[in-house]
Amino acid sequence: MNKETVNELIGQAKDHVWSSHSQISGRDDPTGLGIAVKGEGCYVIDSEGNRYLDATGGSHCCLVGHGRREIAEAVYQQMLDLEFTGSGTVPFTNAATAKLSRKLAELTPGNLNRSFYTLSGSEGIEAALKIVRQYHAQNGKPKKYKVLYRNYSHHGYTWGAMSVSGDPAIRSLIFEPAVPMGVMVPEANPYRCLHCTGTCNLGCARSIEATIEYEDPESIAAILVEPIPKGALVSPTDYWDIVKDLCAKHDILLVADEVVTAFGRTGTWFGGDHYDLEPDLMVLGKTLGSGYQPIGAVVATEQVFERFLGDPDNTLLQSHTLSSHPVVSIAALTNLEIIERERLVERSAALAPFLRSQLETLKEHSTVGDVRSVGLLAEVELVKGDGTKEPLGGKQVGRDLTRFMVDSGLYMRCSGARLNIHPPLTITEDEIREMVDIFDKTLTYAERNILNT
Ligand SMILES: Cc1ncc(COP(=O)(O)O)c(C=O)c1O
Repeated sequence: MNKETVNELIGQAKDHVWSSHSQISGRDDPTGLGIAVKGEGCYVIDSEGNRYLDATGGSHCCLVGHGRREIAEAVYQQMLDLEFTGSGTVPFTNAATAKLSRKLAELTPGNLNRSFYTLSGSEGIEAALKIVRQYHAQNGKPKKYKVLYRNYSHHGYTWGAMSVSGDPAIRSLIFEPAVPMGVMVPEANPYRCLHCTGTCNLGCARSIEATIEYEDPESIAAILVEPIPKGALVSPTDYWDIVKDLCAKHDILLVADEVVTAFGRTGTWFGGDHYDLEPDLMVLGKTLGSGYQPIGAVVATEQVFERFLGDPDNTLLQSHTLSSHPVVSIAALTNLEIIERERLVERSAALAPFLRSQLETLKEHSTVGDVRSVGLLAEVELVKGDGTKEPLGGKQVGRDLTRFMVDSGLYMRCSGARLNIHPPLTITEDEIREMVDIFDKTLTYAERNILNT
């Protein structure tokens, strides 16, 4: 691509693309905008031929690495055979969706067996919320409508998903009132626990119990949790035992958001496997297609599904025209086949100690408050380094550091004062060293330019 074309494309993007999360394509943003043209393994390459090591899996999606010919060919062939026919309204399914659903039933824990498809994680959450409500109504408990969600959780930007997300970056007064169903409970965060200092007293889990009692157990429909949030926060097994008991005792559905953690990210097939979680509903997204096609899903147990059978009026009241799309399904199926064949889940577990040991070296920086990791999911939390755990900064600091890392050859977004690390599971030890080396330089930059030390 010559310079003229590149400049023309950047101009078109700056004038016409409305990006989310930042004003990076806005006219008044002084930071440069690049054009990504190719993906190769763990690297993204721009129009100038610069290579960027992908430390975020392209927004927490890419498990199998970029540029997989096998997925491209499967998608191409599916498009030639049958691009799309619609689903649900006509008595047809398609082979790719049937095989993908069988595969998901095989891989997911417990009795999860039925998949409903969407095109994103947020829509997966929306569908799960409606399934929960309709399930209880058709199970003779129409008063169960409240959904417990955890502080600082992120379940998506659509209105329903936002209404059950505790992340202040999503919740804004502009959008209040939210859909009146969400009840917030505390997150389980060993680094910033509000309940205990030092030894865990399971105060956060007990607080869920107290909230259920206060709100009336007869009104609680579900608890929505990321078993291991993006920030690699692992809670004790006892925490999950309490949650499981509460669900069983009060007929509360356990909804696991595995949009980020499914299929090996944490060194097990699913984040919840670390605690033997067998949810009633599991929401999938980003990693299901590794970013090759837009796909999300809700996988339900047969017990939940049965409530939607019988009377035609019991049918699920949720639908997307492009649900169960054959091209999207074949991309996801091929992605899962690669993960299985190349044993990427085992690879994630095997590389975990190396990633952790490399990240631990960053603790020499006063700005590193906490280093957490599980499998190839990690977070480095940046603080002011004065012993107060005060975050290094907000959105602007995140943008500055993102710019520095991109300019240093890392495909990475710093979310406020947090480095969310989610590389493809195919990453090598050398590439991990390269990534951590750039983090090291970034922290030196932060200390000089943000803390002025
Ligand atoms: C845990 C989790 N759930 C759901 C979502 C929403 O997914 P999507 O952006 O595909 O709508 C996200 C997005 O970041 C997420 O991190």
